[in-house]
Amino acid sequence: MDGTSDVIVVGAGVIGLSIAWRVAQRGLSVTVVDPAAGSGASWTAAGMLAPVTELHYEGRELLALNVESAARYPAFVADLAETTGMDVGYRRCGTVVAAWDAADLAALRDLHAFQVSLGVDSHLLTSRELRAQEPSLAAGLPGGLWAPGDHQVDNRLLHRALVRAATAAGAPLVSARVVGWRQAGERVTGVLTDDGRQFSAGTVVLAAGAWSGVTDGLPDPAVPPVRPVKGQTLRLRGPRELLGHVVRGSVRGNPVYVVPRADGSLVVGASSEEAGFDVRARTGAVFDLLRDAQTLVPGLSETEFVEVSTSVRPGSPDNAPLIGPSPLPGLLYATGHYRNGILLTPLTADLVTGLITGTGAVPPVCDPQRYAAEEART
Ligand code: GLY
Repeated sequence: MDGTSDVIVVGAGVIGLSIAWRVAQRGLSVTVVDPAAGSGASWTAAGMLAPVTELHYEGRELLALNVESAARYPAFVADLAETTGMDVGYRRCGTVVAAWDAADLAALRDLHAFQVSLGVDSHLLTSRELRAQEPSLAAGLPGGLWAPGDHQVDNRLLHRALVRAATAAGAPLVSARVVGWRQAGERVTGVLTDDGRQFSAGTVVLAAGAWSGVTDGLPDPAVPPVRPVKGQTLRLRGPRELLGHVVRGSVRGNPVYVVPRADGSLVVGASSEEAGFDVRARTGAVFDLLRDAQTLVPGLSETEFVEVSTSVRPGSPDNAPLIGPSPLPGLLYATGHYRNGILLTPLTADLVTGLITGTGAVPPVCDPQRYAAEEART
């Protein structure tokens, strides 16, 4: 055996690392396994912490989870800063949603009524109020929404800090790919890696993002219903004063967002494509994002184009995550976070830590057993 620990975490994105850090803080030994830590959605994400503006009509139950995780962010990043000395760019900047035309404004008004019925903090803006809130928006937009509680974090800095925090807490990172699973009867007891090593643990946590559904050798009943949903983001560098808030909108039906970092860089996102694991940048997606973002914020045309980044989100059948016991004893899931992985990082870490230490349970909306229960009902 090449290593024995209390917990193995498969996946070193922000979800896997935050679990490793929190579990190690409780005094348990943890090993993290990933062939390319942080190269997936944790890298491509824009870092929006947007329970309100990512709320869709079907997402009522997910909202409570997202709001709870957003509320945990200030303490989470403060703890990370204390541990690592790193500032992860948590900005309480709020989000402006701009309507592009009258039809869009009507849709935003409906969405606002739904948001208010759920008790979230969201305000309609007139055309004049929209421009006053964010003067770089195009002239003549008919109105919009203001979500004062939807903030942002720099996901790349967050990942870097979590590597440091997990390592400092005694959770080493093994740079290898999981190619097999150790079992004692039904129970999962460890993993085999592509460099020929074997690791054993009392609990294994599958936190491999979109790759959770295709991890080699995972016995069939334990393969989670997670699929890749391709997303592309762009990085630009512009004048620091261009935008003061996250800006979202939908231009002729195409959703787009622009996230201004404190250092003057801007993240534009994001495409959403069912394209398997094809992570090549697609010209049409880049074109659409630039065209739509520039339509809302004309000043973007003068920024420096820095980067296209492409990865796959871990989609689930109902867009809610799978956090909790798998069908096999010894194996927990922390995956399927879809569009909310960065947002749900603090809460996921706490929920999984609670399960491992026997001090907590998971809410039904993210319990992986909900699909089996649903099937039994139908
Ligand atoms: N949370 C934003 C996105 O997935 O594009």
